Formats: sequence, C-alpha cells, structure tokens
Amino acid sequence: MRLLASLALALLPLLAQQSPPPANPEKDSDKKEAEDGFPVTSDLVKKSCGPCHPADEKGRLSRISFRRTTPEGWQQTIKRMVSLVGVKLDPEEARQTVRYLANHHGLAPEEAKPGMFEVERRMIDYKYPADNDTEQTCIKCHSFGRVLLQRRTRTEWELLLAMHRGYYPLIDFQAFRRTGPPQTEPGPDGRPPDNRHPMDKAIAHLSSAFPLRTAEWSSWSANVRPPKLEGRWMLSGHQTGKGPVYGEVEIHRNPSARDGDEFVTSIRYLYARTGQNVRRTGKAILYTGFQWRGRSMEAGAGQTAMREVMFLERNQREMSGRWFSGAYDETGIDVRLERAGKDAMILGLDRNALQTGARDREVSIYGANLPLKPQPSDVDFGPGVTLKRITQASENRITVLADVAADAKIGPRDLVIAGALKANAAVVFDKVDAIKVRPPSGMARNGGNRFPKMYQQFEAVGYSNGPDGKPDTKDDLELGMLDVAWSVEEYTATFGDDDKEFAGSLDAEGLFTPAGDGPNPSRSGNRNNVGDLWIVATYTTAGSNSKPLRARAHLLVTVPLYIRFEQPEVSQ
Ligand code: HEC
Ligand code: HEC
Repeated sequence: MRLLASLALALLPLLAQQSPPPANPEKDSDKKEAEDGFPVTSDLVKKSCGPCHPADEKGRLSRISFRRTTPEGWQQTIKRMVSLVGVKLDPEEARQTVRYLANHHGLAPEEAKPGMFEVERRMIDYKYPADNDTEQTCIKCHSFGRVLLQRRTRTEWELLLAMHRGYYPLIDFQAFRRTGPPQTEPGPDGRPPDNRHPMDKAIAHLSSAFPLRTAEWSSWSANVRPPKLEGRWMLSGHQTGKGPVYGEVEIHRNPSARDGDEFVTSIRYLYARTGQNVRRTGKAILYTGFQWRGRSMEAGAGQTAMREVMFLERNQREMSGRWFSGAYDETGIDVRLERAGKDAMILGLDRNALQTGARDREVSIYGANLPLKPQPSDVDFGPGVTLKRITQASENRITVLADVAADAKIGPRDLVIAGALKANAAVVFDKVDAIKVRPPSGMARNGGNRFPKMYQQFEAVGYSNGPDGKPDTKDDLELGMLDVAWSVEEYTATFGDDDKEFAGSLDAEGLFTPAGDGPNPSRSGNRNNVGDLWIVATYTTAGSNSKPLRARAHLLVTVPLYIRFEQPEVSQ
C-alpha cells in the first residue's frame, strides 16, 4: 500500500503537466482538408453510420470520408463501433458496409503492397525505412503494418492519436509523450535536439507520408472494375517444412451473389516431396479490384478452414499471397497463381538441386499443358544434364531420369519444355557446403488447456559455396530443403536452465509442439512451460565420411496471447 501511495505521489507532477488531448482544431487548413473528403453514396452506410457521423452538404460523413484503408482496417473500426459505441448492424449489413468502404474508401495496389505482410498475417521482423522515431512510437502495442495501411488527412491522424489517448490513458507514458528532460545537445546520431513529443513527430510524419489524397488512389479508383477471374489458374507454392506445392484452382463466379466480385473455387494441389494430395473448395471476395480474401475447406475428413489473402496483379493473370490456418495463423503456404492458357507452362520441380556426377537422378516436373508424349530431347535442362528416359508423362507432370556430368559447371539452369521456359528451375551443384535453419528465430506459445497452442515449423535448407568456393557470397547456391535429423538443445538464458525438459517437443519433421499452458507444479517456482531453446538440424551426406553439417535456430516458447484485440475475417 505504502509503495502504491508513493508511486501515485511520484506520478502526480507528471499528470499535472499533461495537456488535454488535442481538440479538432479550427484552422484554415481544415477548410482545405474538408474539401478533400470522399462523399459516401451508400444508403446503408448513411443509415447506419450517419446518426453519429453527420453528412455535410456534399455528402461527406465526418471521419469516414477522411480516411482510406484495407477491408481489415474498415472491419476493425466497425467492430469497435459495434462493441464500444453500440452500433447495431446485422452480419450481412456489416459485410456490405466493409465492402462498400473497402471499395470506395480503399487503397490503391501500390499503397497496399508494402503492408501485405500485415494482412497475410506473416510473423516477420519488419523495419519501417522512412522514419525510425514514428516506428518506435507506434510499434509498442501493434505492428507497424496497421499504420502503413491507412491514408488520412492530418486532422484524422490527430484524431486517431487522440482516440488512443482517450481509450488508453497510459499511452502517454508508454509511447506518446516525452518523459525525460528536454534535450539540449545533438543526439548520438548528430541530429539537432528535437523536443517535440513523439506523438507530434509521428503526426507530422504520417500526415505527409500517408495523406488522404494521392495520385495512386485517384488513378486506381477511376480505373477499377470487377475483374473477370473465371477460369483455370495454376498454383505453385511453398510450405515451411513440407516443401514445394503444385496444383490448380478453378475459379467461378459465385452464382448466388449479386455482384461480380464474389467467387467460388475448387482447389487441388499436392506436396511434391511426399505426393500427398489435397482437395479443397472455397469462396472469396475481391475487394477494390485486387484484394482477394477467401476461405476454403478441405474435402473429406480434415475440416480445417484456411484463409486466403492474395494480391491480384494489374495484368489480371497473376495473384500471390498466403493461405493460412492455425489459432495464431501460423501455418501457411506462400502461394502464387498464374492463369493457365493453352500453352505449356512449367511450375517447378519436386527437388531442384542436381548434384554433379549423379546417375539416373529422378526428377518430377510440374506444370500445365505439358506434352503427353515427350521425347527426352523435348526436355532441356541445359549444359551438363543429359535426359536418359521419360518414365511418366501427363498434362500436369513429367517424370524423367537424368545424368549430371561430373564436370558440369555449377550454377542455376533454366528448364525448357515444348516452348515453355522456367528460369532457374534447377541448380547444378557439387556438394552441400552448409545448411541453414528457417526461420532463423521462431516463436511458439503454450496451450491446450485454456488457450490454443501456437506451433512453430522449421525447415533446413542446403547451400553450396558456388563457383568462388567461398561461403556467404553472392554466388552461393541455394539447394532447397534437405532431409535432416532434428534435435533440441538448451539455450542458456538462465543459469541451471531446464527449459528443454518442459517447453515442448520437436518431431522428426521439424515441427515444434509446445507444452500445456498454465503454471506447472512439477517445475521449480510453479513456472509456466516457457523457455528458450536451440532448434538444431544435422545433415549427414549418405555414404560419405565427411563431417555432418549443423545449423540451429532460436525458439522462444512463451505464454498464450491472453487478450486478442483483433481477429480479422473479411472473407466470406
Ligand atoms: C453511436 C454513434 C456512432 C455510430 C452509429 C457510428 N460511430 Fe463511428 N465513431 C463514433 C465515435 C464516438 C468515434 C470516436 C471514438 C473512436 O474512434 O472509437 C467514432 C469514430 C469513427 C471513426 C474514426 C476511427 C479512427 O480510426 O480514427 C471511423 C472511421 C468511424 N467511426 C466509422 C464508423 C462507421 C463506418 C460507422 C457505421 C457502420 C460508424 N462509425 C457508426 C461513434 C459512432
Ligand atoms: C499503448 C498501445 C498502442 C500504441 C503505442 C499505439 N497503438 Fe494504435 N492501437 C492500439 C489498440 C489497442 C488499438 C485497437 C483499438 C480498437 O479497435 O479497439 C489500436 C488501433 C490502431 C489503429 C486502427 C484504428 C481503427 O480505427 O480501427 C491504427 C490505424 C493505429 N492504432 C495506429 C497507431 C499509430 C499511428 C500509433 C503511433 C503514433 C499507434 N497506433 C500506437 C494500441 C496502441
């Protein structure tokens, strides 16, 4: 109690210094800004949002007309409107509102691209290149991706920060206001003292870097239309730990939908390393003419839903992104779809690394419209690789036996079949010089009792030093996934650590399954099953007596996310 009281006393002077949150200032620039807003033409939005966000004489609704964002961004705001200010919308109205706003107050492709990692739910270590101060102010609680995907007038940036301060008063101490004394000398980076509060620096930066009106949006919004995506698309992808994925997606217009931007899909693909086949069916909406948001279910037993987030290129022939599932969206395939035409098309190989001196090396080539009766001379891997025999051929797959000359030059090879070319489809190498574990650092969360587990999958990738024979240089050759032995070692973060015994287990495929959540009575101090571990891969070349190669990655096993602010779900 005494401690609390003295803490409160210590905080008093700080609290007294606080100025009230900025009101919406009546400046001349406001008038110009007001001209910037986009009128709302949807009756539904006017009806459900208008009572609190009044329209001006030009049909611009307060707040809503002065910002643009992704479907997920609109959905997040609308969820807050529903949960905190009591807006009443049925699910269908909510969907229509998100769709109208994402389409008419959305982002242009060039604006959305740098923040794709956010909507694709990738766990990456993003660094915002343009302004370190703003980044540091805004990443204390959520990803900077959320910020990158907003466009606002200056007043809207100010009100956004005021909203944070209103709902989370502690934010001033955590991030928004300078807590130390004013700086009088240049900082370590040589910059002159800048004693503005971090939030004021952020507002200045964000309103110039991410303004409401941009040339990109003017041109995209004038040109956008519901694209005709119907037809057959070839799929290629990669799933960490499982390797290359090849298949196809049939896209049809959703017959029961009013608009031309809703689709149904039938999907089939296989994991080339194991031959495991998957069939799924799905539904999707294409927002703003380029943002694919879908959801698919596996046919048959395993009814896991997968969400699909993809970016449609302007040529309307390619889409790429991530399909994912898992309680933390942690399991995913990096996918690329290409429209299939009538011509042959090569998607890739099962294993792309061809070792010099190899005899009768079996290679499976995946694609579309491949020749049904190919001759060995039709399949061209380039110098040093001789096709001996074709063992199987279908429209989607050709399997061949090849010899690689002992003196073949090492390096990437383009593959040519019946006029189709795949650049760098294969790589000729002499030996595996090193391996790496991907991702280099991972995270898992305890679960299974009250909260779901967050898994972490690892994979090991081989490297050759390349023609210069030196490691870590530009000409190093990546050799794809290797079969390795997996093990766990203690990462000494604490003396006498026992994390290895408690945090979870790693299987033979590199999948880490964390242990249960909650305090563990059999652990000293009743601790949770958290810990730091090394995930170790060991690669032994068959029949050789060279030393096994080793590589490792750091894994942090931590507690569940007890509070989740967001669960975006804008697909159908
Ligand atoms: C009952 C009143 C009410 C209704 C109805 C309402 N809002 Fe709001 N809205 C507010 C209040 C209060 C705020 C400011 C506090 C906040 O941002 O949470 C706000 C803020 C906003 C903001 C600014 C948020 C930001 O990121 O800075 C947007 C955008 C918005 N509302 C959109 C909508 C949309 C879209 C609808 C209709 C689906 C809607 N509102 C309906 C009360 C309402
Ligand atoms: C103290 C933690 C914290 C910090 C620091 C913080 N945010 Fe947030 N932010 C939140 C939370 C929590 C929400 C979710 C609010 C909700 O919808 O309930 C949020 C929501 C948002 C949204 C979505 C708003 C909407 O209408 O849905 C944007 C954009 C945003 N923050 C930008 C920023 C920017 C820019 C900064 C830095 C200047 C920043 N945040 C710093 C906690 C923080």
